[in-house]
Amino acid sequence: MKFQYTLGAALVAAMLATACGKKEEAPAAAAPAAPTAKQSVEVLHYWTSGGEAASAAELKKMLEAKGHEWKDFAVAGGGGENAMTVLKSRAVSGNPPTAAQVKGPAIQEWANEGMLASIDAVATAEKWDDLLPKVVADVMKANGNYVAAPVNVHRVNWMWANPEVLNKAGVKGMPTTWDEFFVAADKIKKSGAIALAHGGQNWQDFTVFESVALGVGGAQFYNDALVKLDPAALNSPTMTKVLTTFRKLKGYTDAASPGRDWNMTTALVIQGKAGFQFMGDWAKGEFTAAGKKPGEGFLCAAAPGTANAYTFNVDSFIMFKLKDEAAQKAQGDLASAILSTEFQEVFNQNKGSIPVRLGHDMSKFDDCAKLSATDFVATAKSGGLVPSVAHGMAIEPAKQGSIQDVVTAFWNDGKLSVAEAQKRIAAVATAK
Ligand code: GAL
Repeated sequence: MKFQYTLGAALVAAMLATACGKKEEAPAAAAPAAPTAKQSVEVLHYWTSGGEAASAAELKKMLEAKGHEWKDFAVAGGGGENAMTVLKSRAVSGNPPTAAQVKGPAIQEWANEGMLASIDAVATAEKWDDLLPKVVADVMKANGNYVAAPVNVHRVNWMWANPEVLNKAGVKGMPTTWDEFFVAADKIKKSGAIALAHGGQNWQDFTVFESVALGVGGAQFYNDALVKLDPAALNSPTMTKVLTTFRKLKGYTDAASPGRDWNMTTALVIQGKAGFQFMGDWAKGEFTAAGKKPGEGFLCAAAPGTANAYTFNVDSFIMFKLKDEAAQKAQGDLASAILSTEFQEVFNQNKGSIPVRLGHDMSKFDDCAKLSATDFVATAKSGGLVPSVAHGMAIEPAKQGSIQDVVTAFWNDGKLSVAEAQKRIAAVATAK
């Protein structure tokens, strides 16, 4: 999985093009669209929260505008674990959907099963190799053919806050270090609000954990420990500090945290019941859907200690082999819609992410998205751009799952010592 180390570099080029104001060229005139019969296009996804559903609705709209019928195959469950289980059973029974929300190294796993279709006809006609950063494109290809279409770039290392809760507690400004965070969290706790809104589910625990690792250890440490799985980094005193800091956060969560969905958790911040949440910028989709504006109804900042780093998470749809020619054509229309400027603009504004297309005009996006785009360029140059491990961008799914299991066990079991958890993480991460 060589691409995991180079994905950042290609994305850099993309964002540099954006930053330099590179004008988008008019898309190559695609072959004149032949009238297509109304086809049912079944799309598996896990976008069921308010902001996510609004985003998915845009794709549906665009597909229907092309004369097709959207067959929604939504499987609730943040992070997509439930969706992947359902997808596997559908695929095993020989009845896969038209497309499914699958990303990162998992795309290659599906391609290796021989189940994915080439969408090169669309990709070539629409010049995807020029529209996309090379290494994003490489992740979307198997044996040189496009088998998936990328949707966006999410940043994971965000901290969200309710400004009123902070004000009431006497917290001035967003904390920029973990020490500052704990001082602020103590004040919020004292004021009677929940300091840290957290949903106790394995993928949410892992999401917070990777931000702590990035903030405490820096990008180099993050890469060594969680991407390269280097035993020296995994067994280092820095990792000990990461686990200690992560554990300390638990004391600032509420009793109803275990099992709570991420969007219900964001709702606590929206409603002024909690001060902070650590979550990727799909959380911004919830604030936006609730009519809140950045800087007024909510605040966004990089998680403490991570202002010079960026954990990226690129959503994409894999395309399954279909027998019927008309169904294949509709699948191509879906792929084409996903990469269109129009879709990238409206989808990403709802979703909280930034466009994956090169040179996209960011002027209509909000300040958090603009910060994301700026930081993307800056971190790409500085080496602070790293793949999100918790969101399937860096290591094979099975290994990701084993590390996540230990992190969650550690979060939930106060009797599991830091030393023991560190030993277990290193053991599962380096197991052959
Ligand atoms: C991420 C995914 C996002 C969002 C989130 C919550 O892994 O990339 O698009 O859906 O999970 O489910």
